[in-house]
Amino acid sequence: MKVGIPKEVIDGERRVAATPDTTRRLIEKLGFEVLVERNAGAAASFPDAAYENAGAILCSDATEIWGNAEIVLKVRGPSEHELGQLRNGQTVVGFLAPAQNEDLLHRIAERGANALAIEAVPRISRAQKMDALSSMANIAGYRAVVEAAGLFGRFFTGQITAAGKVPPARVLVIGAGVAGLAAIGTARGLGAIVRAFDVRPEVADQVKSMGAEFLYLQFPSDENGGTSGGYAKTMSKEFIDAEMALFADQARDVDIIITTALIPGKPAPTLITTSMVESMRHGSVVVDLAAEQGGNCEVTVPGKVIQHEGVHVVGYYDLPSRLAHTSSQLYGTNLFHLLDEMGGAEKFRIDMDDVVIRSATVVHQGQVTWPPPPVAVSAAAPAKPEEGQQKTPAIAKQRGVIDVVLTIAGIALLAMLVMTQDRGVLTDFTVFVLACIVGWQVIWNVTPALHTPLMSVTNAISGIIIVGGMVQAGTDHPVASVLGAIAIFVATINIAGGFLVTQRMLKMFRKLDG
Ligand SMILES: NC(=O)c1ccc[n+]([C@@H]2O[C@H](COP(=O)([O-])OP(=O)(O)OC[C@H]3O[C@@H](n4cnc5c(N)ncnc54)[C@H](O)[C@@H]3O)[C@@H](O)[C@H]2O)c1
Repeated sequence: MKVGIPKEVIDGERRVAATPDTTRRLIEKLGFEVLVERNAGAAASFPDAAYENAGAILCSDATEIWGNAEIVLKVRGPSEHELGQLRNGQTVVGFLAPAQNEDLLHRIAERGANALAIEAVPRISRAQKMDALSSMANIAGYRAVVEAAGLFGRFFTGQITAAGKVPPARVLVIGAGVAGLAAIGTARGLGAIVRAFDVRPEVADQVKSMGAEFLYLQFPSDENGGTSGGYAKTMSKEFIDAEMALFADQARDVDIIITTALIPGKPAPTLITTSMVESMRHGSVVVDLAAEQGGNCEVTVPGKVIQHEGVHVVGYYDLPSRLAHTSSQLYGTNLFHLLDEMGGAEKFRIDMDDVVIRSATVVHQGQVTWPPPPVAVSAAAPAKPEEGQQKTPAIAKQRGVIDVVLTIAGIALLAMLVMTQDRGVLTDFTVFVLACIVGWQVIWNVTPALHTPLMSVTNAISGIIIVGGMVQAGTDHPVASVLGAIAIFVATINIAGGFLVTQRMLKMFRKLDG
């Protein structure tokens, strides 16, 4: 089965739907033959020779690709000329913007072809590796900061030098979705002070974990922008007004504003007005990522960088294409996973029972299948059960029985010990019971976030156990010696295991060298 990679025809599009690396994987792992148009990757710095080395067959003309490949991978939707070459049964994959391009879908359907809109892959955990929209938004967020840094006439990080003190730049990010979080990470990485706002308060923790400040809105109602789909909903006019008052205050204080606020399928809300831009200091920058959907800023000119009263306003909507090498690699990898999900070369099929494939398929066997049935995606934190309802009745009942049995066994043991009338045994037993209660209380209610410090405490306790075990192991009493040896052994495992687990956890937070 043949996969074709034509050169993108839209002016200014530098990305390509497969890189030499993803081409090799399509051939070696999925069993496809890959046809690549000459110069297809040139604008993204992938030379033809690299594709050839990866095993691709180079074609001098796109017609060869459209005429021979069963599957055509593209970045943008097919152009007028490309539509004319679509064949019955052929499958085309790309960013097709199905909600805005119904006419395109009907034209593809008329040719009897299939089409998958990669942006329609649902944002569910299983589909993350195919989620090209997130891959591109991540790059756009990064590139937004790079564009801002290029126009901003100061350092991002604060510095104290012999020649004077430079304050850090202050950055406001509006909308903490994929692009917003990437922008926060990049701006923090450059040393700026970053603040962020989003209508979904559940993202506050993510914002804070990246070292930025989350701005809370003083709003009388508890209106929450989150939905079970993980996207925002349209907010009330009162909420938007309150939000804009917050931004008006911030605009006077910050140097850079990056706006990414969007509700899928809706025009972008206007959040930064002309007067807010005019209140910013000269040399400040606004990067409006929502420019293509109308923009979050009133003065944005889509596709252009303008200056308004000394403030640069960036309205590029091709930011991923401005980082073509990386975006092609990530996009190509997303497509590789998509074709893998569809069965590879041998078992390739458009499975309309697979929720990911069904959602992405917008034309199937000459029929328009857009829009797909809704998919429940939950990025929002699940609602916390009310106090007293946290355990299900079955678990609570089971626990109750265990408690009763343990209490009876404890009382019986205590009675037996009292009957022995051995004061020494009784004292030891009392200490043992108290130690169990204290240990239980200390350990049982510790939240998972505190498990690492808890491990240090248990290590200290294990140390004491080892000392106790050594004392007992040295006595003449055979039972005490054996128990002492067992205590030393078990406590040693606890300490060594504790160190091992701690090292593994710390490793997760360490950056890899290089
Ligand atoms: N310019 C480019 O080149 C480029 C490239 C890729 C993506 N984008 C755009 O970037 C934007 C963000 O993409 P994403 O994938 O991160 O989307 P996303 O859905 O993950 O994030 C959007 C965020 O905006 C928030 N939001 C919605 N309404 C808001 C409001 N009134 N106030 C504050 N926050 C609000 C949402 O809660 C959400 O967290 C989109 O507009 C997308 O089209 C632009």
